[in-house]
Amino acid sequence: MDKGKLEFFARLIKTSHNIVVFTGAGVSTESGVPDFRSPGGIWDRFDPQEMTFQKFVSSPESRRKYWELFRICWKEFRGIEPNPAHLAIAELEKQEKLSAVVTQNVEELHQKAGNRPEKVLQLHGNMWKISCLECEAPYSWQEAYNRLEQGKMIDNCSRCGGLLKPATISFGQQLPAKILKEAQMRSSSCDLFISIGSSLVVYPAAYMPQLAKESGAKLVIINREPTPFDSIADLVIEGQAGEIMKKAMELSRQDR
Ligand code: APR
Repeated sequence: MDKGKLEFFARLIKTSHNIVVFTGAGVSTESGVPDFRSPGGIWDRFDPQEMTFQKFVSSPESRRKYWELFRICWKEFRGIEPNPAHLAIAELEKQEKLSAVVTQNVEELHQKAGNRPEKVLQLHGNMWKISCLECEAPYSWQEAYNRLEQGKMIDNCSRCGGLLKPATISFGQQLPAKILKEAQMRSSSCDLFISIGSSLVVYPAAYMPQLAKESGAKLVIINREPTPFDSIADLVIEGQAGEIMKKAMELSRQDR
């Protein structure tokens, strides 16, 4: 790994006090969670065209496929643990340098690593919650999981008869307005914006690095492969998020 780039990154961390860390599925692959667009990722196993919000609300067959995706994710992700990248991000909060984690991830590994829930803005929702699309009544994912494991379908809302859905944002579904607004506010007022493990191809989430850069922040992109925003970044480090974040935090502590 490029030592000069790591030292520059460590200096940026040391001299910044209002950091936004933006994460995608790539920050969690070292915890055993597949990402979406790498070979073998989620969209290699499930057709994203089948998983849109419109399909979910209009087609019982698409709903069956959607719940099957969640049965597998709930089964595979129950025992996942944070990796060094998540722990490094939690350390930034302990050092009182973190403005927010703006994440596209739905598995709660940032909170499990030690970031306080109020510091984690989940743009694409949370896979451990289910709610009614009409009256927003909350339901238990464990009960849904057990029903699916027994080959049963998920009933409609017992209160209003509306459709139940995991509280993650599907293509075509509105992002939570309050969370999106806070993510935009924090991205446009930070001094350092670090994007980790995202292909930066899904909007409006992918506007955040651009907003930060346009507002005068330094932009660092950490990813295993190039992204569309590399050309506007102040620093691009290609490689494994866990190793890069661990080493950068070690170097930034040495300078202190
Ligand atoms: N270290 C660094 N980068 C990694 C690692 C790793 N250990 N593992 C994977 N990556 C990179 C991949 O190369 C890829 O560029 O992380 C990126 C993950 O990109 P995607 O799979 O597209 O995931 P993400 O950017 O989070 O997708 C955004 O798309 O399908 C929707 O709602 C879904 O929130 C998701 C959104």
